[in-house]
Amino acid sequence: MSERVAIFDTTLRDGEQSPGCSMNLEEKLRMARQLESLGVDVLEAGFPIASEDDFAAVREVARTCRRPVIAALCRTTPEDIERSWEALADAARPRIHTFIATSDIHLQYKLQKTREEVLEMSRRAVRLAKSFTTDVEFSAEDATRSDLDYLCEVIEAVIDEGATVVNIPDTVGYTIPAEYTKIIETLRNRVRNIDRAVISVHCHNDLGLAVANSLAAIAAGARQIECTINGIGERAGNASLEELVMAMRVRRDLMPYETGVVTEEIFRSSQTLSNITGVLVQPNKAIVGKNAFAHEAGIHQHGVLRNRLTYEIMTPESVGVKTNSIVLGKHSGRHALGKRYEEMGYALSRPELDKAYKLFTKLADQKKEIFEEDLVAILQDGFAQIPERYKLRALQATAGTATLATSLVTLLDTAEDREMTETSAGDGPVNSVIEAIDKITGLRGSLLDYTVRAITRGTDAVGEVFVHVEFDGTSYTGKAASTDIVDGSARAYLNAVNKACYARARARNAA
Ligand code: KIV
Ligand code: ZN
Repeated sequence: MSERVAIFDTTLRDGEQSPGCSMNLEEKLRMARQLESLGVDVLEAGFPIASEDDFAAVREVARTCRRPVIAALCRTTPEDIERSWEALADAARPRIHTFIATSDIHLQYKLQKTREEVLEMSRRAVRLAKSFTTDVEFSAEDATRSDLDYLCEVIEAVIDEGATVVNIPDTVGYTIPAEYTKIIETLRNRVRNIDRAVISVHCHNDLGLAVANSLAAIAAGARQIECTINGIGERAGNASLEELVMAMRVRRDLMPYETGVVTEEIFRSSQTLSNITGVLVQPNKAIVGKNAFAHEAGIHQHGVLRNRLTYEIMTPESVGVKTNSIVLGKHSGRHALGKRYEEMGYALSRPELDKAYKLFTKLADQKKEIFEEDLVAILQDGFAQIPERYKLRALQATAGTATLATSLVTLLDTAEDREMTETSAGDGPVNSVIEAIDKITGLRGSLLDYTVRAITRGTDAVGEVFVHVEFDGTSYTGKAASTDIVDGSARAYLNAVNKACYARARARNAA
């Protein structure tokens, strides 16, 4: 049996469904490109029937990412399957992923169908999907709470119809490794045609067992794992890609499986995702958390200084965490900057380097040393694709313990090419700045979430501000990096305002 395990990434589908993790088209494309560099085998880009945006995202990811298989999710109805195929039409390697629940509890309460009906719907769905493409995946939703005899019957039937991958999801994160092992072994022993399909697993983390369950299934013979960056996903999330891949790499002695993942791209993938969504990684998160390679206790530090193997089971470099800081400052030239970006894995075109250099010199005027994190922030902040309807021209804010915070904000309205200034008072400087921006734009935003974190070191650190803002019932993320928190907050808020303006303009054009 092959020891190659396919990594099926569902960050853009199951991951994107989780609260606070929604992404717009440009953000999905940026994440998809990073996942392609990471080397995932399958990239599930969305659920095309769910919305026009999901459809567009699948279509654009399929046009952009040519190496991985691009999967699109659909239920078993003909409209769902046809819509998926439409979105996948330009893919170099398309996969239709169709699913239906097989547990009695889902059949009775959700689908209100009999077992016979669901069996027939599964057969028909795979038959139709197969008429479009050879690569068809079937998922038996809530498989781990399904009657095992019935699950075997459905799986055998869909393989007879041509399913090339059969997924056995632990949809509600209910199973445990020993039980999941038994389910996979039973399928391998009882399903007559099982050797004609790859067994896939898809685990949710409700009991914190998603990674352990996925690895148990691989040992039992599954050869595809569905997972997400940072473990994002419905409820408690999905199995975390970085944990799975590194567990197999570090414990190769017990799990001798290969994946195509370029592990050095793991940290960058994690950062890209949290940068896009504004959902920060918990500091003690395995592999990608800020403390994953930090040694605090004196005894540990002593041991690591003598030999890293004393307390490190993998090197930070193996997942792309650089431990060396770089010293770039205001005297560094364009060439040094370009070279440093190259070493970090970013090949910038000449105009991109020019733009990055401009932002770099501005930052270098504000802080003495520029670290790698600053350079990533420059790219991620300065290269955002959303057209800027409003640009911050000037900002003045005052605050104190005994005075009401006030601010004066000037914005350039690029659509009308005119500058507008407003003043406002509020509960604090950030609140008053937001009030002033709202007065100018005429949009009334409701701040759902606001996070600030220092992304570089020192008292002159760059702080990153993330906001979730709701305009007319739709929420948008915004982010910005700055050495000044009030300035960063204004820019992050404006980033969300510009996204809202862009979404409205697109909706108007589509109508
Ligand atoms: O959790 C689940 O069962 C799913 C399926 C659609 C694969 O996400
Ligand atoms: Zn799921």
